[in-house]
Amino acid sequence: MKKALSLLALSTLVISSNAGVDKFEDDVIEAKQIANISEEGLSSLPTKKITLYQQYTVALNDANAKKLVEEQKPVEAEVTVGYNQKEIGILIKWKDETKSVQPAMTTNKYGDGVSVQFPVKYGKGTTLAYIGMGDSKHPVMTYLKKAVEGKDYQKAFIAEGFGSLTEIQEKGYTFTMKYDDANKQWIAFIKKPIKTPDLNLASGMVPVSFAIWDGNSLNRDGNKVISNWKFIKMGNAKVDPNYLKYISWGYGEIGNPARGKELMIQNGCNGCHRFADQTAAPEGLAPNLSKIGGYSNPIYLKESIVNPNDVVIRNLNINRHYNKAAGPDKNGAYPNNDMYTWYIKDDKGNITSKMPPYAHLSEQDLKDIVAYLKTLK
Ligand code: HEC
Repeated sequence: MKKALSLLALSTLVISSNAGVDKFEDDVIEAKQIANISEEGLSSLPTKKITLYQQYTVALNDANAKKLVEEQKPVEAEVTVGYNQKEIGILIKWKDETKSVQPAMTTNKYGDGVSVQFPVKYGKGTTLAYIGMGDSKHPVMTYLKKAVEGKDYQKAFIAEGFGSLTEIQEKGYTFTMKYDDANKQWIAFIKKPIKTPDLNLASGMVPVSFAIWDGNSLNRDGNKVISNWKFIKMGNAKVDPNYLKYISWGYGEIGNPARGKELMIQNGCNGCHRFADQTAAPEGLAPNLSKIGGYSNPIYLKESIVNPNDVVIRNLNINRHYNKAAGPDKNGAYPNNDMYTWYIKDDKGNITSKMPPYAHLSEQDLKDIVAYLKTLK
């Protein structure tokens, strides 16, 4: 009996040490004010280490690429931010043993790449956007750089979810990416106006997130590693205390992850979602939560549970799920199986999540569930 008890105690211990007790400061990137926004100028500033995890919420319709996502390791990157009244510069370095440049002609080889993303709106009263390219209520501005043979491939666009992009011709921005053979790392540098008609970054605390593609792992589109929302703290600029309170919710040891997992099972979350050893739900019915802790902020997780209609995720490739029971149309194609669409769209185009709100859960229950979700990386 004594032995069984201590084993139980041990397993609880393992789960709570796994929680990683993230500190809010770990997600804050201190930016320094400098006159000359250049790669050299930024090289002398302190850097921040960040970790990017495999995007697992939506999957590509490519079995080989999917298998590689499982095997891919999180990527560590070093980020430096400098700014002045006119411009902001971000330097990103990450190790990559295999330099992949997309050939000009072939389509089955993919180049390495990086993107930097900001919510178009942020600050007091604005909830955090879905990390994978925003959502219809929270558009994001994404700057993308890819290694493509013979081409300077860079793009800026406003995104409202996977597959919903509007390209923006932003003036005065540059994005470079070069491979450092000696250290086997990529060095990317973006410099842009601090204020444009689409995006104003002149604020005390600016949400930002990063994505990295590894061509060697067949990464492209949604197959990539991503960070959670980080926050650029601009020198000594004033930060709104209410916004700070909002974005810093749920850091530290907030609850009991083991109880959180139990609560998820009791509340039927595993009827729709797959996570850890809970694999009963059909794949694709709802986001796979197995790595959600790596790329989600605690407040985002809480809001996803309490109010799923605020941030509604568009899944990629719903078209891969056909409804064979319905029979083919005149062209021999089967209609989509609506079961795998994550939301309902009304005549006016408003979308409602298929996830029911769990607003009745107590604050402690929510903290325990979020504490558990944070362990899933
Ligand atoms: C009826 C099916 C269903 C149930 C039950 C359900 N969910 Fe969901 N959940 C979804 C769908 C569909 C989405 C994606 C649409 C959206 O954004 O709301 C989602 C989204 C999420 C997200 C955001 C995922 C991401 O990748 O950003 C989280 C977190 C989440 N659910 C947690 C939970 C928890 C915790 C429970 C139980 C308390 C639960 N869900 C119960 C269907 C469900």
